[in-house]
Amino acid sequence: MAMRDAVRPIAREEILRQQAIAREIRERPDRPLTYHLITYGCQMNAHDSQALAGMLEEMGMAPEADREKAGLILFNTCCIRDNAERRAMGNIVFTRKIKRVRPELLVGVCGCMAQQEGFQERLSRRYPHVDFSFGPGEIYQLPQRLLDAMEGRREQAFRRGEDSTLYEGLPILRSSPFFAYQTVMYGCDNFCSYCVVPLVRGRERSRELKQIVSEAQRLVDEGVQEIMLLGQNVNSYGRDTGGPRFEDLLRALGQTGIRRLRFMTSHPKDLSDELIAEMARNPAVCPHLHLPAQSGSDRMLAAMNRRYTRDWYLERVRALRQAIPHIGLTSDLIVAFPGETEEDFEQTLSLARQVRFDSAFTFIYSPRSGTAAARLPGRIDPEVARERILRLIALQEDITREVLRGLVGQTASVLAEGLSKRDPGQLTGKTGRGIACNFSADPGRIGQIVPVLITGQGSKTLKARQIEKENP
Ligand code: SAH
Ligand code: SF4
Ligand code: F3S
Repeated sequence: MAMRDAVRPIAREEILRQQAIAREIRERPDRPLTYHLITYGCQMNAHDSQALAGMLEEMGMAPEADREKAGLILFNTCCIRDNAERRAMGNIVFTRKIKRVRPELLVGVCGCMAQQEGFQERLSRRYPHVDFSFGPGEIYQLPQRLLDAMEGRREQAFRRGEDSTLYEGLPILRSSPFFAYQTVMYGCDNFCSYCVVPLVRGRERSRELKQIVSEAQRLVDEGVQEIMLLGQNVNSYGRDTGGPRFEDLLRALGQTGIRRLRFMTSHPKDLSDELIAEMARNPAVCPHLHLPAQSGSDRMLAAMNRRYTRDWYLERVRALRQAIPHIGLTSDLIVAFPGETEEDFEQTLSLARQVRFDSAFTFIYSPRSGTAAARLPGRIDPEVARERILRLIALQEDITREVLRGLVGQTASVLAEGLSKRDPGQLTGKTGRGIACNFSADPGRIGQIVPVLITGQGSKTLKARQIEKENP
C-alpha cells in the first residue's frame, strides 16, 4: 500500500505565482499559439481539463480541433483499466510523427497515468518527444511545467509531484452556460482491492463548505441551472475534516437557488439515513443516484474490500425507494474479479434483476499494479470473462428497455441542453432521473427546465413533447 502522504493545502500565493508565470508565457513570442487537449477517464478528469483549458487560455492559447496543427498537445490520462491506458499511450506515441514534421510542437502528459510510480521517469526516458508531465494533484502547476519545458529544464518538467494537494481558484472553462461541475472532495481512502484511484489521486480531502457554496452562488448568478458535484466518494464529504457532512452541503447548496443538483460517486457503505432524508426533502436534488454495487456476491464484495454486503446494498435501495419513490438508480458492475465462480457471477445477475437499475456501466476486471487484487490468485480466463460481461450487458439492456417503457405516459422535466444532433427539429436534454430525452419544444426554451410528457422510448433514450405544466 502506498505511503499515506499528508494533505497539503496550496497557498493562495502559489496560485498567484502560477498566474504570474501564465502572464509571462502570454508575452513570449515562442509560446504555442494553440492547444489540443485530449481527455480520458471520469468526470473528475473532464473537470480537471476545464481548469487546464482555462489556464491555457490565460496563457494566450486558443483551442485547435486538429491535433496535426496544434502548437501544444496535452493528454489528460486515465489508468483505471488497461484499455484506457493503452489507448492514451497509442496516441502519445503517435505525436512523435507530428513532431518530426513540426519540431516546435510541445507535447504534455498529465492526469492519473502520470502519477503512477515510475511512470514519468519511463516516459521521459523512452519518449524524448514528450516535453513535460505532471499528476492530477499538480494541475495548478501547468504554467510552471510548460515554462520548464519551453526553457529546456527537462528534469523539472517531469518532476513527480504530490498527490494530496488541495487548491482553490483555478479558472474553469465551462463547456455549457447552463451546466457546471464542482469538485467537493478530492482523492479516496477506500482502497477497494482492484482500484488504482487511491494510489494516484491521494488521500481524501474535502473542500471547505463556504468555498463550495460561494462558488455555486456565482454559478447560479451566471445562469447555471444544473450542478454536478464531484468526488470519488462524495458521501464521505467531511469525514476527513470532521466538519459539515454531505447532507449539510446539499442543504446549503439548495439555498443558492440552483434548480438542479446531481452528485457522483456515492459509496453504498456511506449512504446514511440523514443523506437519504436530505435527498428526499431538497427540491433541487435530482431523483437519481449512481450507487456502484460492483458485485452481487458477498464473497466477491469481501475480496474487493467494499465493506458492505449484498443485503446491506439491497436494504439501502429499499430505503431510497421508500423515501424517493421515483428515484432512478444506476450502477457500476465488475465481472471476472479473481476467483469469481459462475455462482458468484449469477449473484451479480440476480442483483441487477432485483434492483432494476436504469442503466449500469459494466467492466471486466483489469489488474492494476500496486493494488491488492493484482496479487490474488484465481485469474479468470478471458473467454469466460467476455462471455460473462456479454450476458450481463444483455440482461441490463432488457431491464433498461423495461424501465423506459414504464416511464412512457408519465410527465417529467428536462433541462433543454440544445438541438438534437439527429433531428434538429427536436431539443435534447436529461430528465431529473438522468435519462437522455429528445423532445419537441420551442427552441427558445434551450437552457431552461421544460415540463414534458413522455411519449415513447428508444433503447436508451426517451421521446417526449413539451406540455404546459407538470402534473403536481
Ligand atoms: N469512486 C467511484 C468510481 C471509481 S472508477 C466508485 O467508487 O464507484 C469507476 C468504476 O470503474 C468503478 O466503480 C469500478 O466499477 C470500475 N473499476 C475500477 N477499477 C477497476 C479495475 N481494476 N478493473 C475493472 N473495473 C474497475
Ligand atoms: Fe476506487 Fe473504491 Fe475509491 Fe471508488 S471507492 S475510487 S472504486 S478505491
Ligand atoms: Fe481514470 Fe483517474 Fe478518473 S484513473 S477514472 S481519470 S480518477
